[in-house]
Amino acid sequence: MDYTELCKTADEARKNSYCVYSGFSVGAALLTPDGRVYTGCNIENAAYPAGICAERTAFCKAISEGEREFRAIAVAGGRIGEAPDDAFPCGVCRQFMNEFVDSDSFEVIIVHRDLSYTTYRFGELLPYSFGSKILKKEL
Ligand code: THU
Repeated sequence: MDYTELCKTADEARKNSYCVYSGFSVGAALLTPDGRVYTGCNIENAAYPAGICAERTAFCKAISEGEREFRAIAVAGGRIGEAPDDAFPCGVCRQFMNEFVDSDSFEVIIVHRDLSYTTYRFGELLPYSFGSKILKKEL
């Protein structure tokens, strides 16, 4: 699947968003090196912090199916019923993704209103990150 199609898939995933509190629907489409795609949407909750973002939904689906390698994620978010509008992953999602992606090669694709997109290297969005490497250092 090319990135244009991945962006469309992310935007379509917004349809399942449960965003009754914010009215802001987000869809994500996560691509593996083998070409498999896992979608996700945001799922809110009356106890607000219990809600989950689209990106983490997609990663949880993929990881729980046994995936461990990831190439790119497209993110489409905007007010419900409107075009997507440059929604970037939140800080929690960036940290969550950091566990599973390579900073230099993993790409985050941000979907614009006309479904065109801009691509960022993960390391641009989360520089100087805290990750597993430091915990594996000999004490
Ligand atoms: N949201 C996401 O799904 N992904 C992000 O990276 C940013 C925020 C959701 C969470 C909440 O349901 C709504 O957008 C408004 O914050």
